Amino acid sequence: MKIRKAVIPVAGKGTRFLPATKQIPKEMIPIINLPMIHYVVEEAILSGIEQVVFITSSGKQAIEDYFDRNFDLEDFLVKNGKIKELELVRKIGNMVEVTAVRQKEQLGLGHAVLCAKDIIGNEPFAVILGDEIVLGKNPVIKQLIDVSTQNKDASVIGVMEVDPQETYKYGVVKGQFTDATKRTMKMEAMVEKPKPEVAPSNLATPGRYVFKPEIINMLAKEQDVFAHVFEGNRYDTGNIEGYLNATLEIALLNDATSETMRNIIKDKMTKFNIK
Ligand code: UTP
Repeated sequence: MKIRKAVIPVAGKGTRFLPATKQIPKEMIPIINLPMIHYVVEEAILSGIEQVVFITSSGKQAIEDYFDRNFDLEDFLVKNGKIKELELVRKIGNMVEVTAVRQKEQLGLGHAVLCAKDIIGNEPFAVILGDEIVLGKNPVIKQLIDVSTQNKDASVIGVMEVDPQETYKYGVVKGQFTDATKRTMKMEAMVEKPKPEVAPSNLATPGRYVFKPEIINMLAKEQDVFAHVFEGNRYDTGNIEGYLNATLEIALLNDATSETMRNIIKDKMTKFNIK
């Protein structure tokens, strides 16, 4: 079944990024010249999503505004002959249909998704965390939609391998692989932040989901739920280490900045005597 809507929770307070997040949403902090949320919405669009539902809270208006038209800015760019910049700004304003729902109290991710209940209605939908970026040839949500289609439109959770010693940082899945390549499994359970000695696997859930609408009411009791080991490089940009990692790697991957970044790294290695 076609999946048209993606719920993107962005209502969190972003305390790990204070004081920047005192005034700007974490999801608007840029990686190079694009805010984090741009990468996330781009993944949704490349996966065929037509409507993005942001779950927001007070102080998060900038996220909706970013994906809206800004006629003052467009006028200014026209008057100053900045045509390339004008096209860029207009393109973002027309990228996708955006809806926003308020999560009045930050009661966690499950509650955030529930806030989209009325907008989702009786349709399957994707959930994408607003502060996790995954880069790769095939967008993750698209990979999960494909697995869902192959399994009678079942719900599918994106998982990735993590260091077995670090399972305590993640939700970890238990299940049996259903394919020879060992990428897709039928899920039996999900264990929240298990210690390495009791973790059922080292497959963790970094925030990519495709859900049947019923999940909202019963969260995987009697339905098949699959986990799929997705392809792509994932960056947890909600913490400073992940953010630095993403910034450096994206600059190295991007043709426009790669050479500059290489030269900066070489220079810093000499200057700070890094071997
Ligand atoms: P995080 O766990 O990163 O929480 O949420 P946070 O509040 O944004 O950041 P810290 O931990 O205080 O630094 C993961 C995603 O889920 C959203 C966040 O906005 C983030 O994109 N979220 C979290 C909600 O929308 N509502 C919530 O109640 C909690």
